[in-house]
Amino acid sequence: MITFGDVVLMTRGDFEDKVVIVTGAGQGMGRAVSELLSSLGAVIVVNDIRNVAAENTADYIRSIGGQAEALQGDVNSATDVKRVVDFTVKRFGSVHVLVNSAGVLKPTAVESIGEEEWDFVVGVNLKGTFLFSKAVLPSMKESGWGRIVNFSSTAGKNVSTIGGAHYTAAKAGVLGFTRHLAKEVAGDGITVNAVCPGLIDTEMVRSTIDEEDIASYSDSFPVSRLGKPTEVANLVAFLASDRASYITGASLDINGGDLMI
Ligand SMILES: NC(=O)c1ccc[n+]([C@@H]2O[C@H](COP(=O)([O-])OP(=O)(O)OC[C@H]3O[C@@H](n4cnc5c(N)ncnc54)[C@H](O)[C@@H]3O)[C@@H](O)[C@H]2O)c1
Repeated sequence: MITFGDVVLMTRGDFEDKVVIVTGAGQGMGRAVSELLSSLGAVIVVNDIRNVAAENTADYIRSIGGQAEALQGDVNSATDVKRVVDFTVKRFGSVHVLVNSAGVLKPTAVESIGEEEWDFVVGVNLKGTFLFSKAVLPSMKESGWGRIVNFSSTAGKNVSTIGGAHYTAAKAGVLGFTRHLAKEVAGDGITVNAVCPGLIDTEMVRSTIDEEDIASYSDSFPVSRLGKPTEVANLVAFLASDRASYITGASLDINGGDLMI
């Protein structure tokens, strides 16, 4: 770490010795965050509900000289979450950073959303964020340092571009949870923040809308393209670093100017 007065500048090695759990890291933004933090020196615990996807990300990180462990688990299951966090603490000593990236989106209209689908979408996006955050707190408190970065969305502040009301409600819930937890744990050296991406070029978007819709949404944005997972990863890395030590309870927009508030 290099300092300039009180200011900490990011360098390769910034995350040296930091143990990072990234949920939903088998693809998309979770994977981009895992690769970036690994390149900055972190040990990455790659969680995904799909074992093969988690293994692929971990294999790739190891193939370029990083340290990663794949751990399958459903963020919506308290048993799975406990297993992942217990394993991490036992294997690596503690958890310094948690990135809650796992999410699911359904484009269903309210009148067609069944109870099961509501519980599924709200469960993965919101309850998963709660379960993982709760599970890492004892380790972070013991270290006296921690970073939790939650994935909300433009949907959390406005309405979802391509998802349904359950998605919008869950992402708004993530913002409330972020603020509340930030207040609870500020005295323990733990910051809790959220990122609110606009439309980012991942499988979540590509499997929901077609090329024509993507082109027309892109044209409507001031920066007339979709965002890249690596652009969001840069923001997450900043929030997860020492440089963001006075930012907590915040939600940072990254949407090419789609939403300006
Ligand atoms: N792509 C966008 O435009 C966009 C915009 C705003 C917010 N987001 C949010 O960003 C996050 C990442 O999105 P993405 O676009 O990279 O999505 P993605 O669909 O490409 O990847 C999500 C990953 O999460 C995993 N996952 C799903 N359910 C899980 C569960 N129950 N437990 C563990 N893993 C699970 C999937 O297997 C997948 O690998 C999500 O929370 C999403 O809601 C996405």
